[in-house]
Amino acid sequence: MAETRFLADYRPWPFRLIETRLDITLAPRGSCVRSELALERTGPGPLVLDGGAGLHTLSVCIDGAAVPPEALAIGGEALTIGDRALPEGRFTLSCTVEIDPEANTALEGLYLSGGIFCTQCEAEGFRHITWYPDRPDVMAPFRVTLRSDMPVLLSNGNPVASGPGWAEWHDPWPKPAYLFALVAGDLRAVSGRFATSSGREVALNVWVRPGDEDRAGFALESLVKAMRWDETAYGREYDLDVFNIVAVDDFNMGAMENKGLNIFNSRLVLASPETATDSDYERIEAVIAHEYFHNWTGNRITCRDWFQLCLKEGLTVFRDQQFTSDMRSAAVKRIEDVVTLRARQFREDAGPLAHPPRPDRYEEINNFYTATVYEKGAEVIGMLRRLVGDDGYRRALDLYFDRHDGQACTIEDWLKVFEDATGRDLTQFKRWYTDAGTPRLTMAEDWDQGAGRLTLRFRQDTAPTPGQPDKPPRVIPIAVGLLSPNGDEVVPTRVLEMTDAEQSFAFDGLGGRPVVSLLRGFSAPVTVDRRISRSERALLVAHDTDPFARWEAADSLAMDSLVAMAAGAGSDPALSYAYGGVLAERAMDPAFLALMLRLPAEDEIAAEMARRGAVPDPDAIHRAREALMTELATDHARVLDQIMAEMDCPLPYAPDAAQSGARSARLAALALLSRIDGGERAQAVWDRAGNMTERMGALTQLIRAGRAEGALAWMEQRFAGNRLVMDKFFTVQPMAAAPDRALPVARALAARPDFDIRNPNRFRALIGGFGANHAALHAADGSGYDFVADWLIRIDPVNPQIAARMCSLLETWPRYDEGRRAHARRALERIAALPGLSGNTAEMVTRILA
Ligand code: PHE
Ligand code: ZN
Repeated sequence: MAETRFLADYRPWPFRLIETRLDITLAPRGSCVRSELALERTGPGPLVLDGGAGLHTLSVCIDGAAVPPEALAIGGEALTIGDRALPEGRFTLSCTVEIDPEANTALEGLYLSGGIFCTQCEAEGFRHITWYPDRPDVMAPFRVTLRSDMPVLLSNGNPVASGPGWAEWHDPWPKPAYLFALVAGDLRAVSGRFATSSGREVALNVWVRPGDEDRAGFALESLVKAMRWDETAYGREYDLDVFNIVAVDDFNMGAMENKGLNIFNSRLVLASPETATDSDYERIEAVIAHEYFHNWTGNRITCRDWFQLCLKEGLTVFRDQQFTSDMRSAAVKRIEDVVTLRARQFREDAGPLAHPPRPDRYEEINNFYTATVYEKGAEVIGMLRRLVGDDGYRRALDLYFDRHDGQACTIEDWLKVFEDATGRDLTQFKRWYTDAGTPRLTMAEDWDQGAGRLTLRFRQDTAPTPGQPDKPPRVIPIAVGLLSPNGDEVVPTRVLEMTDAEQSFAFDGLGGRPVVSLLRGFSAPVTVDRRISRSERALLVAHDTDPFARWEAADSLAMDSLVAMAAGAGSDPALSYAYGGVLAERAMDPAFLALMLRLPAEDEIAAEMARRGAVPDPDAIHRAREALMTELATDHARVLDQIMAEMDCPLPYAPDAAQSGARSARLAALALLSRIDGGERAQAVWDRAGNMTERMGALTQLIRAGRAEGALAWMEQRFAGNRLVMDKFFTVQPMAAAPDRALPVARALAARPDFDIRNPNRFRALIGGFGANHAALHAADGSGYDFVADWLIRIDPVNPQIAARMCSLLETWPRYDEGRRAHARRALERIAALPGLSGNTAEMVTRILA
């Protein structure tokens, strides 16, 4: 069992690391790693280095002489050199170890992916490469020599020299070990150049496997856009002569910001119109930017310890969201981000895995790369910006870069720059970082006709979360606007700052009772309870000037209907009427229209029912949603058909906001119409599809309609050798299947020889695709839970990080009825009882069961 680590236990390392030199000879079964650390003692105590079980230690020397055995202790995860064997002042510690990259299926440290040597060191992977102070507050410049007969040898920083079979790299910027990387392989570069605003010439390379060059261009273009944007928006320039990106097929996460050498999951690099969807393109653009932005927010300024993870991740997500808003539609991006936040982070916050953006304890840090740390971490910064204003934000960020460049920082440092730059006291605000849970905001209205005054009375409550029973009030920025009953905006957006548990705000001088447009732009990550009539909601759907609030009005109208229908009521004609209004509006941005046509997902409906104190029935939810889609399609078939015709994009394909918006509106209309035409139109779209976006949109509906055989066979034949496309094949089938078909479909796919669980993308594709079928995952007989548990048990010994991450499929079990809960508990207990279960998965299962 892993031990618990506590934020309160932080102590600085009692040595100074002056420089790190590595000399690495690569071989699949026995790679030799020689390290030389220039050290200086700054406090008392022994020298303790981190390492993993896989290190075969050949020598440990101080200033060239072997450390005497009595002064040296090599335990499972630590190498300790006794106090008395250490010289005063400076000394050099050199170690030689041998490691086995080929045996590394956990994909942490040095491993092989399709014949390419690569590394993944965040968070604690470097200790699987050699003995080292593997903690983010120990930073040093690195000098690295790589030896291998592979044609391309890459590491961090700038290339120094190379010859046949070797290359030397130097990274002058002090960095922690988690930002180290190396790559060696037979790779081809798609290259470009970038001149920074102060005139530094940077060579850009996107490295891919031979044959993939024609799918790397979009990643390179995205990089250039990101580099330019960070100069304009944040005044941040790139700081090395080269910037390398490498795509590998086997990668636990999305991508990694290693200094000057970002390593990417190939699904976030490779794209062509035939193989990638519009959302793949959007995601690639965002993640390329995200990793690039880490160069300043993460690398130049890093985290003191892993409790501070959201310092770099929340900020970098916030920055990539700003970037995407600037590149595409800000309104659409905001709504998409809120949809994801609610689907993933609100769900996490409402269940057994709830934790604050800055946790104060963990067993396995890899289990904390969560929606809370990333997405809520970004929301918290958005609130901060709203509270201090754009100028204040800019000044605080300038101060942050100025004051902390080259340092390993904390959330306290971050908040202090805002306090110093703006004069604001952020003591109460800090609770957003330290407290878990989603506040529920309740609003009541008092209207005084005589005085022309509207008083909004708010209350905030946050339910207890694991380890945090009491929730003091937080500061909540509530953006509000007022509309007159004929739809005109009578009071433009005002940000109310709520600081107490209960608080009122008054609006005076109103001619008549207005309709409140609440939480505009989703100004705080809270849930809202308000008494509002259907006609007021419909008015907001039709007239709100704030696009988020407008979408939210439609979404909540739909949610109310769906919740009622799932509980046995009939549908609400007001909803179909409001949809009619939306569809009739000619000038609407197609991407926004697509979002307006989207109904809440089944898992969101279940979450909402649980929030309202009901026990969700997954089968009833599925039926309700299908019934509502059928009804909307029936009521609006003619105009939906018009939309499909109008939104049929001209060639040539471009993944830009305009075209992808049109395609998403067209496919949203298709999804509705497919409920009433037996898949007729989907077949037509498939037959004429000119790109993967249309193919996947059509295929989803064909599967649902039970007539996808031909399309699937074509896909399999056409793309057998393309792993990324085949991942879609594995995902879409269980995801779109009727709930009672999903399990047999998933089982059949799992039996295929190309279901290779050593490839995280493939595993996630199938098991995640099945898990996305809400009614199948939560089948009353527990078969869904068992299927997931069986596969988690199989993957845990191969790749514990993936097993642990996928445990979150089971995090919502407490929502459901007695019978389902018993099945889920048994499935989880079966995992927990596994002999040799990884610490990663053990922690997750224990927390989920608690
Ligand atoms: N730091 C990476 C990112 O967010 C994510 C990551 C974490 C990748 C851990 C690998 C391992 O950009
Ligand atoms: Zn990141």
